Amino acid sequence: MAYLKPDQPEKVYVPALRAAKESGEKLVCLTAYDYPTARIVDEAGVDIILVGDSMGNVIHGYGNTIPVTLEEILSATKAVKRGSSRALIVSDMPYGTFHTGDNKAVRNAMRLLKNGGAEAVKLEGGRNRVDLVKRLVDEEIPVMAHIGLTPQSVHKLGGYRVQGKTTVDANRLIEDAKMLEEAGAFAIVLELIPREVAETISKELTISTVGIGAGAACDIQVLVLHDLIGFTFGRQPRFVRQYANVSQVITDAITKWMDDVRSGDYPSEAESYGFPKEARKNVNA
Ligand code: KIV
Repeated sequence: MAYLKPDQPEKVYVPALRAAKESGEKLVCLTAYDYPTARIVDEAGVDIILVGDSMGNVIHGYGNTIPVTLEEILSATKAVKRGSSRALIVSDMPYGTFHTGDNKAVRNAMRLLKNGGAEAVKLEGGRNRVDLVKRLVDEEIPVMAHIGLTPQSVHKLGGYRVQGKTTVDANRLIEDAKMLEEAGAFAIVLELIPREVAETISKELTISTVGIGAGAACDIQVLVLHDLIGFTFGRQPRFVRQYANVSQVITDAITKWMDDVRSGDYPSEAESYGFPKEARKNVNA
């Protein structure tokens, strides 16, 4: 467990988001699924770490988020908790962990807080999740809602497309956002929706909007860390700005190491251990 040092900035808790919105301060959120990336993200000063079910695509290679389990999110949350000291830790509720009854959903969310060290949970859905959000909040579990493109609905939606492009759909999203705020969510992810719709929602809500592919008016921006650092495969959505090419850095390092091994340059004497002189006389050679 990492502890705050006296000169470290204050730990981020849920109320800090409202204060930031009121003062117009932009916050940032990135995903992390393990100890080293959590440390890097936290020490870089990111305000919120999302242990997202995007891990299904990014680190498990499942192709979508549907197969991700509570155990996978729980294990990742524990590692992220150990690696971070300042950021607010939000854990995703995977598909199937909040769909079969509110009591079960509460128990699963509680496991993420009690056993994983999460400080809030995120769950996908609009008006159909209002009662559940109320119940979770009643049980002291802060909830980040998630509307727009909800990747757990990929089969129903038939792909990953921009949502809210008609007046009817946009109005429905705005209504959903208001209902989720009313239900007690402390923030709401807006994924892949027109920036004008995101701007309206951000203006009309008192809770923070967390945008991904939703334009600049959102109170908080979130990205998948692996997308930002170029540690993924395939074509990226247009909202991703890639700041590094970590895949290439890793490939270059591995290639250099293989060359050194094959040429006999690695390991050198300095990278290995000598047998102590005084012990040599006792060796049967
Ligand atoms: O799982 C995830 O990483 C997410 C973000 C993309 C918002 O839901």
